[in-house]
Amino acid sequence: MSKSYRVAILGATGAVGKELLELLERRNFPVADLKLLASERSVGKRLPFRGENLPVEPVSDRAFEHVDLVLASAGGSTSKAWAPKAVLAGAVVIDNSSAFRMNPEVPLVVPEVNPETASQHKGIIAVPNCTTILMTVVVWPLHQIRPVQRIVAATYQSASGAGAKAMEEVKTQASAILAGKQPVSEVFPYPLAFNLFPHNAPINDLGYCEEEMKMVNETRKIFGNQQIRITATCVRVPVLRAHSEAINLEFETPLHPDEAREILSQAPGVKLVEDWKANHFPMPIEATGKDEVLVGRIRQDISHPCSLDLWLCGDQIRKGAALNAIQIAELLVEKNLFKESLIKSH
Ligand code: A2P
Repeated sequence: MSKSYRVAILGATGAVGKELLELLERRNFPVADLKLLASERSVGKRLPFRGENLPVEPVSDRAFEHVDLVLASAGGSTSKAWAPKAVLAGAVVIDNSSAFRMNPEVPLVVPEVNPETASQHKGIIAVPNCTTILMTVVVWPLHQIRPVQRIVAATYQSASGAGAKAMEEVKTQASAILAGKQPVSEVFPYPLAFNLFPHNAPINDLGYCEEEMKMVNETRKIFGNQQIRITATCVRVPVLRAHSEAINLEFETPLHPDEAREILSQAPGVKLVEDWKANHFPMPIEATGKDEVLVGRIRQDISHPCSLDLWLCGDQIRKGAALNAIQIAELLVEKNLFKESLIKSH
């Protein structure tokens, strides 16, 4: 009898939570039983899964009893409060928040890059920040062939990174502006419709915001390389759900753009989108709903013989969060990485 797992989604009503639900079904994850958890606000809601409408339950001390796997996407403070309890109750937690990412006891996993680290988990595995996932999927295969010394990144981040309410806010603001009214900002500090602003995460003494430092620190942890030099500027743009990034890579020795193209055309989770004649390159609307990170405009940096420039777009909710989490769950199944005591045939 094949194994199947009792799964809970913490944050099931959110943008990533709903995508997790869809992907569990679409990828035919071996689910024996599924619990949908959110806040008290969502009690009474139901969400579809495999032809049924499952009730949303409030998260509670008893919610993780008889659960093998928790997919958490309800923000850092909710994960901090509940993930340790879920682990104590016997579950493995795959956490989309930033709560545990830099904890040395917690693997930070992008399955295309460092799948081997998942086996070191002690109950929690962290999913990296979305911009970091999208960047590492593209940079890692190049780095394997020609070591990268320095990354300079600029991001163009969609509203979805701030959750379902943020996506609604941009639409409402756009309608208001088109109707000649003042846009109202509640999730974001400023109107995002017809505007953009540097990412509004807290800023440190060096002038970097938290989102930028996530790209630096998380990439180093995922690559297992503290020497790689990284700098980033993160910007929020009025796009609904796919992030874009302009990346400059400095290699130890020159890498020809055609060689980079060849490497990336075979890299897992990456799709080359380059039609130079038609000026057609990755765009957020074409990355939306896709599993792959789209990459293109690969060109020699004319300011440095060892550097290349490239442009990528990836669905922030899909590969930037939910898909990466499901791929980690699939790794746990494939490599039998649930706690021994949990492996049962249901
Ligand atoms: P709810 O819908 O009940 O507020 P998003 O990132 O799209 O904003 O979604 C956040 C998700 O996290 C939602 O499912 C939300 O549930 C859930 N959530 C937020 N705060 C809590 C909390 N304190 N306890 C449980 N779930 C929470």
